[in-house]
Amino acid sequence: MMDQEDEPFPQKFYRNVIYNLVDLFFYIAVEDPAVQKYKRTFKTRDGIEVLYRPIRPDDDDKILEFYYSLSRETIYFRFFSGRKNVPKSRVRDYTHIDYQKNFAMVVEYQGKIIGIGHYIITDDPETAEMAVVIHDDWQRKGIGTHFLRYLISIAKERGVKHLTATVLLENYKILKTIEKLGFKFTKKLEEGDLLVEADI
Ligand SMILES: CC(C)(COP(=O)(O)OP(=O)(O)OC[C@H]1O[C@@H](n2cnc3c(N)ncnc32)[C@H](O)[C@@H]1OP(=O)(O)O)[C@@H](O)C(=O)NCCC(=O)NCCS
Repeated sequence: MMDQEDEPFPQKFYRNVIYNLVDLFFYIAVEDPAVQKYKRTFKTRDGIEVLYRPIRPDDDDKILEFYYSLSRETIYFRFFSGRKNVPKSRVRDYTHIDYQKNFAMVVEYQGKIIGIGHYIITDDPETAEMAVVIHDDWQRKGIGTHFLRYLISIAKERGVKHLTATVLLENYKILKTIEKLGFKFTKKLEEGDLLVEADI
């Protein structure tokens, strides 16, 4: 197969044009005031101000840097596998979203991403699957609970009525965090993992 580097000029040119046009769609989506309004700051338990903002299509490198600096435990609890190399194509799926069916926010401190949270609408348009991860260096400062609560309020405002999350049975941190949220969550065992559900 021809390497992208060896691609003749016209093909390379048109591929780049198409790529940039596709990107433009995502840039327009993130700049929508209805999305940008969710930007806000939060003061951690130890008084550090962090920023919550919608994820951006140009966040790929920051996201990769974030994932590569997570501990194995955090990666395992989030992805259910110890693999540290998150493929670049997968990162693009996180950053190039429509903010309708798929909504993601990051937590940022001094330009560095320190947390990510997202939800995806399932086949049922009123149900969303949610996931969150806070960098090891920033855990236990109150961000996870506050950020998750904020993400849930955004989902609710945008028409989500039911939430689901799959968590590992041994993930005591998220189970504690969920407890602290104060919602009425139900938990059931599904293929060895916990399926957590709540009406919001
Ligand atoms: C779960 C997670 C998001 C919580 O984030 P966080 O910023 O630490 O959350 P908070 O600071 O609000 O802590 C919430 C509660 O979790 C528990 N907790 C968090 N870290 C803990 C730790 N290292 N040891 C014991 N309990 C811990 C505590 O009960 C804590 O409340 P408290 O500090 O008032 O006692 C974070 O641990 C994480 O990213 N884990 C890996 C990814 C993951 O498991 N995601 C969920 C599956 S999608």
